[in-house]
Amino acid sequence: MPFVKVARLADLPPDSLTEVFVGGEPYAICNLGGEVHALSGICPHEGGPLGQGQIHDGCVVCPYHLWEFDCRTGACDLDPSSGVKTYPVKVEGDDILIQVP
Ligand code: FES
Repeated sequence: MPFVKVARLADLPPDSLTEVFVGGEPYAICNLGGEVHALSGICPHEGGPLGQGQIHDGCVVCPYHLWEFDCRTGACDLDPSSGVKTYPVKVEGDDILIQVP
């Protein structure tokens, strides 16, 4: 699977989050203290847009009911069976690229 450019690092300051789409699928891209991570953009609870949430304490917080998912692993502390997928990320200069199906 090729890496696809989805965002610019200049538009994603540390401890911020953005929503991107690849092939119509949403992904949440977060900058955790300078480290960029990619997660599925769909909350497993009721389908909330994770990329429109916020970062708190190393987690993506769903904007709908505030479930939290670890930026690095996608794990959900509230319900360990409800984590989200994570995807490989590359940063090349100012380009953020992710590898998704
Ligand atoms: S839809 Fe995400 S917490 Fe409910």
